[in-house]
Amino acid sequence: MQEQKTERISVADLNDAKEKPVLLKGWVYNIRSSGKIGFLLLRDGSGICQCILNASFSSLKSFEVFKSLQQENVVEVKGVVKAWKNSFEIQVQELKKTGTSEAYPLGKKDHGIDFLLQHRHLWLRSKRPWAILRIRHEITKAIHAFFNKNNFLQIESPVLTPNACEGSSTLFPVQFFNEDEIYLSQSGQFYMEAAAAAFGKVYCFNPVFRAEKSSTRRHLLEFWMIEPEMAFYDLEQTMELAEDMITFIVSQVLKNNVKELEILKRNTQLLEKIKPPFARIHYTEAAKILIEKKNSKFQMGQDFGGEDETLLSSHFEKPVFVHHYPSEIKAFYMKTDQKSPDFSLSFDLLGTEGYGELVGGSQREDDLEMLEDKMKQHKVEKESLNWYLDLRRYGSFPHSGFGVGLERVVSWICGLTHVREAIAFPRLYARSFFEKQN
Ligand code: 4AD
Ligand code: MG
Repeated sequence: MQEQKTERISVADLNDAKEKPVLLKGWVYNIRSSGKIGFLLLRDGSGICQCILNASFSSLKSFEVFKSLQQENVVEVKGVVKAWKNSFEIQVQELKKTGTSEAYPLGKKDHGIDFLLQHRHLWLRSKRPWAILRIRHEITKAIHAFFNKNNFLQIESPVLTPNACEGSSTLFPVQFFNEDEIYLSQSGQFYMEAAAAAFGKVYCFNPVFRAEKSSTRRHLLEFWMIEPEMAFYDLEQTMELAEDMITFIVSQVLKNNVKELEILKRNTQLLEKIKPPFARIHYTEAAKILIEKKNSKFQMGQDFGGEDETLLSSHFEKPVFVHHYPSEIKAFYMKTDQKSPDFSLSFDLLGTEGYGELVGGSQREDDLEMLEDKMKQHKVEKESLNWYLDLRRYGSFPHSGFGVGLERVVSWICGLTHVREAIAFPRLYARSFFEKQN
């Protein structure tokens, strides 16, 4: 008689197969024995499941296979799904080894970060990256859902561009045939401003590049930025949108990533507090907080450094908006506040627990002359931005937008100490971490 075919199932779907015979395919995560019982942790990408070998239900051949196993061998398990604690285990009937593995370099020992980053292509299989990158996916989903429900249109901004949106010092030049220099995009903002005039409310979700010669826990050379741009929004409306977006993202992760947050041992009580309203403080108020701190070298008018942001954000239980930065220290495209012309209609949103800047945004300068003046003051080259000035020449309109650093948000929500863990293959200033091996 022909053997009955058992359907393959994923670990994540075991809930639908209680007491049923199933087939699992995956990799050996761990093995141990206790007396005559064998325990195999099988990892299949969707999760990890304990498989039990016991003479009363497992074949003799299965025990032989079990004895030969080592981490990352590829296996197939046929067995019955049983409820176990708050989860499931498999009573193994048949165990097959379908693929081998050399001795796995990322065994049970603790490894240093350099070693882990050099082996990022394998490290991804461990529990911690698994949890972080699944949360990242949920955050990405939440961001698209948020902008969809608010009637935004997604527009792709180009990666190759002649524009320096965020200053010329952090540009990555690209060899562009024999023509002028071209760069990898630092931000899609200018293109979103053009698109906002065509569609009203738009956003892009793109990789961006900054040649920052510093190795801080907040900086990547390549990261993902979400940049909404809205026609007829002022500074206050824009901060409200950022507040709603962050609140929605956190609520989705709390709802859909319970298991992942548990793996990361994240204090979720702190995340539960992330609900509107977030405090809004003027730059001068934030500066005063820093100046009042003993030993602070901070001076009024300066931009905040990483430590200043950490200090400021640890003052608040919710993210905090700092708005109205001095025009001099912010980008040329930020609109001058007519009521106090030394300040710009700008904001940064600082995360809790010392995480610093998650979001940066502003109302945009919509007055052609003012914008041209500011370009001069900031020594911004006009040639590559003539097209951008067209947006002020033809139907200039009040508009605002912001940029969210995806890895900053992932780090904050996951409670990571460094953004390098917030992306699958981080590009860091310390080049030895790239895949190329000597
Ligand atoms: O503050 P930034 O530089 O703003 C812009 O690029 C604007 N053009 C955005 C806009 O208004 N459309 O960057 C925005 C966000 C920061 O708040 C931070 O979260 C993140 O991007 N970010 C980085 N993340 C990782 N590594 C880096 N090197 C980053 N630089 C900025
Ligand atoms: Mg910024």
